Amino acid sequence: MIQLKTKDIRIAVQSKGRLKTDSIEFLISIGFDIDESDRALLSSCNKYEADVIYLRDDDIPQYVASGVADFGIVGENVYYESPSGARIVKKLGFSKCSLVVAIPNDSDIKEVSDLEGRKIATSYPNLLKAYLNKAEVKAEVVLVKGSAEVAPVLGFADAICDLVQSGKTLKENGLKPAFKIMESQAILIESPFLKDFEFNPFQNESN
Ligand code: PRP
Ligand code: ZN
Repeated sequence: MIQLKTKDIRIAVQSKGRLKTDSIEFLISIGFDIDESDRALLSSCNKYEADVIYLRDDDIPQYVASGVADFGIVGENVYYESPSGARIVKKLGFSKCSLVVAIPNDSDIKEVSDLEGRKIATSYPNLLKAYLNKAEVKAEVVLVKGSAEVAPVLGFADAICDLVQSGKTLKENGLKPAFKIMESQAILIESPFLKDFEFNPFQNESN
């Protein structure tokens, strides 16, 4: 059991998936000693007075915004999906991907305007709705928490809005990217209540 010390810097990272692996790799590269096999939701670093907290990605901004975590590593897409008050320190240059609207290979959707009246499944309803509003398209946005790519196959949606990295998931589910909403990568965020730490491991990262 890890004891949290108040003087420790707390860094929130994703608890699973590719962003977790990339985030831990990054933290190790700047000197953290983290046991990657650790499935505990907290790990302490010996070298720095720091704790790494593993959270669901969409919970990270609010933990950082409230000051419970001092820093967080999160995808830009997640940061912009739910405005939180956490501050961006910098883009980290890894976990690059795009948020796209994807359609079945045989879809009759050609232009953004063809999305009018269609049903789109996504885990990013706010970013998708902002995109549709800007394009003056009215579509039905349905929220799914994951595996969005299966929705068109099942006839549950005409299109999806999801992240694409290698494109493998789209391809394997008979989908193709149609419209790009935004590019995304990992960013370092910090709390608006950031304490004045004796030693900040991200010092060189914040310029
Ligand atoms: C993410 C994303 C896409 C996929 C993109 O899903 O939601 O489905 O990765 O990667 P690719 O283009 O390299 O195939 P994830 O594996 O995190 O699962 P989830 O959506 O069910 O959370
Ligand atoms: Zn997915």
